[in-house]
Amino acid sequence: MKKELIKTTSLMLALGMSIACFASCAKADGNAMPASSAAPSETSSADSRTETKVSYTIENIRRFMVGVDDPVELPDGSKKVIVNFDNAATTPALKPVMEEVDTKLKTYGSIGRGFSAKSNISTEIYENTRDKVLSFVNCSYPDYTCVYVNSTTDGLNKLASALITSKKDIVLATRMEHHSNDLSWRDRCKVIYADVDDQGRIKYDEIENLLKKNKVKYVTVTAASNVTGYVTDVHRIARMAHKYGAKIIVDGAQIVAHRSFSMIGNSPDENIDFFVFSAHKMYSPYGGGAIVGLTDELGKHMPKFYGGGTVDIVTDNTVTYKDAPHLYEAGSPNYPGVVGLGKSIDVLNEVGFENISAHEQKLMKKMIDGLKQRKNVVIYGDTDDISDRVGVISFNFTDINSALLATKLANAGAGTRRGAFCAHPYVWRLMGVSNEQARIYEGCDSAKTPGMIRVSFGIYNTEEEVDEFLRLLDQTLENYRNTNHEGTDEEDFDPAF
Ligand code: ALA
Repeated sequence: MKKELIKTTSLMLALGMSIACFASCAKADGNAMPASSAAPSETSSADSRTETKVSYTIENIRRFMVGVDDPVELPDGSKKVIVNFDNAATTPALKPVMEEVDTKLKTYGSIGRGFSAKSNISTEIYENTRDKVLSFVNCSYPDYTCVYVNSTTDGLNKLASALITSKKDIVLATRMEHHSNDLSWRDRCKVIYADVDDQGRIKYDEIENLLKKNKVKYVTVTAASNVTGYVTDVHRIARMAHKYGAKIIVDGAQIVAHRSFSMIGNSPDENIDFFVFSAHKMYSPYGGGAIVGLTDELGKHMPKFYGGGTVDIVTDNTVTYKDAPHLYEAGSPNYPGVVGLGKSIDVLNEVGFENISAHEQKLMKKMIDGLKQRKNVVIYGDTDDISDRVGVISFNFTDINSALLATKLANAGAGTRRGAFCAHPYVWRLMGVSNEQARIYEGCDSAKTPGMIRVSFGIYNTEEEVDEFLRLLDQTLENYRNTNHEGTDEEDFDPAF
């Protein structure tokens, strides 16, 4: 079906066709771009950091965040700098990311399609950023390639649409997954699940048993939970998957801004085959993300997304497709998303993942110790050994409904997320809600369904913010406990969750 790109490239050049189109093919056969289309260098950008020669560190990074110290209007009309502990959902923008996008938009042109200097420059930036993404997860071309996607959800759906070829294919997932890494597969094939233990950690033995008993094609697992923050030993799972002839897909949504990630394990059987993540969870809110995957494997499959950019030649009744990554990128690319992603990788690398992790552990410990001192609290997951957790803590209070408490906290200036975090089966397990009990709430207002409150940290959060959060929590709980709720709307909210 597909032709060798080298032949296509030579033919295009012989015909004197678009330089921009050449750029999109050049990556595949290793050619460099003509010097005349070089992108603006880092030092020529308007990036304030380059001008002031500041290094990004875990100590100073807050200064480089957009809006985190700007007051926002609360529902009562007052203005306040809020505490934002909802970073697992999305992260605020980094100023250097915003500046980089602004700068690179000055040379924005159509990617891989245009006949203009701007088109050539932006095509080169777009193509070169693939290498940065690959090295971010410690791998390189040609073994691996980087496919740009809109988000983790988009990437997992795209991957599932390509890899699953029969309803009878078996995918092994876990009960820790968030919906994107569960429902994307459920609809397309048979999914079997390894369960979690009482603390909410994945049962690794169960993965091995399921692999032994079933002809599993793919194992798919999150690198870190969006509910408890548990970090998965994905290389151990890769070893098991490969032993039984399966490939491994890792959902990287919750790891990329918290810990360094390597596609490469200690031995080849520990290598990860596919990894998917979003840029908006790593301080670049312009959309975008990536699938990093085995080039050959991606090339063998066909995503069920069609459009321009994916084909060599289309006739009335034939189509010849390009190879991965272009095969997976139908339609006009998201240039700001790619530029932002590249810059956020630079900044996170400069801050250093060891520093990020140590900082997060400090905030986690402080928050968990603080919560433990409050009466009626239930904290989900292991609160004694937190070394395998990224900065995510979910909790409840037994005498106040979580939706009510989260709303009151938000009104007081403390941002959290509340609910089942698009990971219902995992949350029900942690809360002890059976499938039958959960189904009672089908069609209910989501604020009235069982749920938890989640706080999740970003690189810019501080210990002072943890103190402020606990102060607002105490104030809110005290007001609630000292108020008679009889005959008010608040009576409708079940304190059991
Ligand atoms: N983005 C979702 C979250 O908040 C899944 O965890």
